[in-house]
Amino acid sequence: MRDGIDIEFREVGMRDGLQNTKGFFPTEAKIAWMKAEVASGMPAIEICSFVPPKLIPQFKDAVEVVEATHATDTGDCIISALIPNMKGAERGVELGMKKLNFVASVSETHNLSNVRRKPEESVEDFRRIVEMRDALPDDKKFVIDGGMSTVFGCTLEGNVDPAAAVKLAQQFVEAGADHLTVCDTVGFANPKQVRDMFRLLQSELGPDVTMTAHFHDTRGLALANMEAALDVGIRSFDACLAGLGGCPWAPGASGNMVMEDGVFMAEAMGMRTGIDVDKLCSIREIIADNLPGEPLHGAIAKAGVPKGHSPASSFAAAAE
Ligand code: COA
Ligand code: ZN
Repeated sequence: MRDGIDIEFREVGMRDGLQNTKGFFPTEAKIAWMKAEVASGMPAIEICSFVPPKLIPQFKDAVEVVEATHATDTGDCIISALIPNMKGAERGVELGMKKLNFVASVSETHNLSNVRRKPEESVEDFRRIVEMRDALPDDKKFVIDGGMSTVFGCTLEGNVDPAAAVKLAQQFVEAGADHLTVCDTVGFANPKQVRDMFRLLQSELGPDVTMTAHFHDTRGLALANMEAALDVGIRSFDACLAGLGGCPWAPGASGNMVMEDGVFMAEAMGMRTGIDVDKLCSIREIIADNLPGEPLHGAIAKAGVPKGHSPASSFAAAAE
């Protein structure tokens, strides 16, 4: 985690947020969004997916968007992209990505629907990607994140066995994952389940395995789930500006935890995010202008921060 923050948020709007929206979000608007997020202090951004453009045309401009991140002074903001397979990893290497987020689901039905493989076949792909990465010269190596979808339940299968989530996590770690992202892909989780699941993963995997929590607000529990994850020591969270998001291959999926609200909650509780919530809220305009008709979620953007709110982060150092 970057110095001077207590919680690391990752903006996943340019990936999770855009993969399920109608219409193409213009390349210049994606780049403007990325630059504005960096300027707000965002410590990490998932910028796009390396998936077949035929499957998700939204990411047909991945090369231009990634090149724009290289041409921008992104400081210590960690830029990453989602990959579903080896081809995605190869595209990432070609484009000089320093971090790639592999994805596989605990639920077999969702994995088959999402990436057309059984979970064990995805694990095999992951192993080969790590081998490929390890054989690269040092300046081409990338950090690899093992993303676990449907950990807390699946709209296709219903309940998901926590033991199956532990198994996938162990397989990722044994294969060489640098980090795990634990996803409530379809917003089934509740705070007790979140505490239990992370405690189970922590006890089975040991203290060296770091994890990000990825919540969707489908049933209104994303912030409660964030608080539950904080309670058991998780300090890294995915969220999305204006609560966009959802997996196109998970029926009933809807938006991610609202970034602005998560940042406000953390700052109000005395935890530094390094993110300026006012700057963050102003970025919603880019979304509104480029996604006409898309509902924008979030309480803080509508209500404003309470009178007397004093964020934990100090932004004086960033003043021009
Ligand atoms: N990027 C670009 N093109 C890719 C690719 C990638 N990561 N992976 C495969 N392709 C291309 C292949 O080269 C091939 O091209 P061709 O038809 O011109 O020969 C074509 O896509 C089919 O390849 P194949 O390996 O048979 O893939 P598939 O059709 O079985 O699809 C996935 C498998 C994993 C690529 C696809 O299901 C996928 O991208 N899923 C991700 C879905 C997603 O993003 N979900 C939301 C995020 S959780
Ligand atoms: Zn998601």
